[in-house]
Amino acid sequence: HAADAKRTDLMTITRFVLNEQSKHPGSRGDFTILLNHIVLGCKFVCSAVNKAGLAKLIGLAGDTNVQGEEQKKLDVLSNEVFIKALVSSGRTSILVSEEDEEATFVEPSKRGKYCVVFDPLDGSSNIDCGVSIGTIFGIYMVKDGEPTINDVLQPGKNMLAAGYCMYGSSCMFVLSTGSGVNGFTLDPSLGEFILTHPDIKIPRKGKIYSVNEGNAKNWDAPTAKYVENCKFPKDGSPAKSLRYVGSMVADVHRTLLYGGIFMYPADKKSPNGKLRVLYEVFPMSFLMEQAGGQAFTGKQRALDLVPTKIHERSPIFLGSYDDVEEIKALYAAKE
Ligand code: AHG
Ligand code: MN
Ligand code: MN
Ligand code: MN
Repeated sequence: HAADAKRTDLMTITRFVLNEQSKHPGSRGDFTILLNHIVLGCKFVCSAVNKAGLAKLIGLAGDTNVQGEEQKKLDVLSNEVFIKALVSSGRTSILVSEEDEEATFVEPSKRGKYCVVFDPLDGSSNIDCGVSIGTIFGIYMVKDGEPTINDVLQPGKNMLAAGYCMYGSSCMFVLSTGSGVNGFTLDPSLGEFILTHPDIKIPRKGKIYSVNEGNAKNWDAPTAKYVENCKFPKDGSPAKSLRYVGSMVADVHRTLLYGGIFMYPADKKSPNGKLRVLYEVFPMSFLMEQAGGQAFTGKQRALDLVPTKIHERSPIFLGSYDDVEEIKALYAAKE
């Protein structure tokens, strides 16, 4: 019985990645070790997030604890956990985090061949009301020689891997190492991520659009036109539904599984949108393309962008292939 076999032959994320990497000649397990450290960080954040509601009571985050020490906010705490886990993996040279203004250069004795860009806790405005939040990351390989900031200022298409962990009704880890997208669910009793969503493919066209419509008065014409078409389709197709959590990880996760489009467009107040290229736009665009969807900035394929600063922002439209085609056509008509 296939179901029985799955129940007794557990495909953990470590086993899955070891299998995948063994196909690469000369692989020595470095990537698996790095990923295990990222997974450890995610398990820690998951457990901290689950306790966040109790934190006020027992003095966990953003409050003073019983010893009278100032407690760390969850995003700051998560950042420290990831930085320490990544450095101690011995497999990284440069780390870029949303929470740190400057990149971290790992000391020579602990250096390895990877760079990790990450948003330790995305959607932090949702923490206090118990809505889904997540961690996003992307992985590059350093070029030979002394690591420099240019090792991370590379287009997203050069990423070796990208993924996110969503702390939702269950804790899910979604990963691509460049050959499709796979989803793993944390079994809390085992403390292991188990493959539950093999080879995720985004539906070709979706029924949902996801955007902060509160910014509508400042949108440019193509974005405004696109959203108008979602509500009042000209071709007789049914109107799309609006879903917007305000946590990129949750909004992108839903888009990946159900189809549709997620956007954080440019507007008059923020000509580059809000989301950060290295650790928000690139990893999610990488996953979308790997799942058969598209990611577009309003000007070009998102993964072709070459960032010049580590915290650079870009407008982003990503999701189902056909839905992104539509917004691309509107921007092309504007030219
Ligand atoms: P972060 O919590 O890491 O600073 O990022 C928040 C981001 C992202 O999760 C979400 O898509 C977006 O902010 C929502 O922004 P608006 O509140 O402007 O819609
Ligand atoms: Mn974020
Ligand atoms: Mn964040
Ligand atoms: Mn933030």
